[in-house]
Amino acid sequence: MIRHLLSTRDLSRTSAIALLDTAEDMAALGARENKKLPALRGKTIVNLFYEDSTRTRISFEVAQKRLSADVINFSARGSSVSKGESLKDTILTLRELGVDGVVIRHPSSGAPQLLAERDWIDVPVVNAGDGTHEHPTQALLDAFTLRKEVSGDDSRGRGLDGARVVIVGDVFHSRVARSNIWLLEHLGARVTVVAPATLIPSGAERWPITVSYDLDAALSEPVDAVMMLRVQSERMREAFFPNAHEYAQGWGLTEERFARLAPSTLIMHPGPMNRGLEICSAAADSSQSVILQQVANGVFVRMAVLYSILTGTSEVSHE
Ligand code: CP
Repeated sequence: MIRHLLSTRDLSRTSAIALLDTAEDMAALGARENKKLPALRGKTIVNLFYEDSTRTRISFEVAQKRLSADVINFSARGSSVSKGESLKDTILTLRELGVDGVVIRHPSSGAPQLLAERDWIDVPVVNAGDGTHEHPTQALLDAFTLRKEVSGDDSRGRGLDGARVVIVGDVFHSRVARSNIWLLEHLGARVTVVAPATLIPSGAERWPITVSYDLDAALSEPVDAVMMLRVQSERMREAFFPNAHEYAQGWGLTEERFARLAPSTLIMHPGPMNRGLEICSAAADSSQSVILQQVANGVFVRMAVLYSILTGTSEVSHE
């Protein structure tokens, strides 16, 4: 059983499939009238968010409450971080207040690893997105969504062997892309990454992917899912493409490209979306889109992660 969830690169295929299977159990619970499990009663979890979030933060909180944990929500904005308090002093303070687990989002790549490795606090740490490094629970919920669509009710115990996924857009700044690339590799999927050359990071040649700069060519082959990435303007200190129109024409899922996709190709996006830039509304709101299923599945996957890490088992007990 894993102690922390810091990245998907370090997650074995066996551990990843166990988490996806536990998430199936959590999804079954979600269909009950009483959606709560007593599993984490008496445990306190802090959601330590140094960056803005809607989906991740709220779905972690929903997951924690469904598992009966006590929840502390901490935003860097409005806290003593704005007075200059360090990550170390913040976490030492939380330790003294008595927390049993930390979920952290931080703009610095490696911040969750720091918490897990230093002796500031001795509790499980879950990475909710660190800089441009990783966003492991996003990749797990993406894989859960994809596995359900590809394998249906028969998905338990399975990976994504042979599935073909095209990841498109701002790979350079995307922790979602990095976590997906490693997890999809562990699960046996084939990944093509498409972006303008300026948005493919150096080192990508060592990733288990095919790189393309031509979205139409990549989508001319049958694909199970196309995952559009958000253009992360807030992380761009220089121009990575000429303008929004040229980006959309070259690498956006436009209405023309959407019309050419096979009806079976799933459309994914981690959110939040820049409609009209990386994805058109016709595609985002279509019956091929699983973007809202990704959001819903985020609760089940985060329940599975917290349950497994904090109880030390992936077997779901209703006691
Ligand atoms: N996908 C994702 O991380 O969204 P939020 O930034 O809203 O959490």
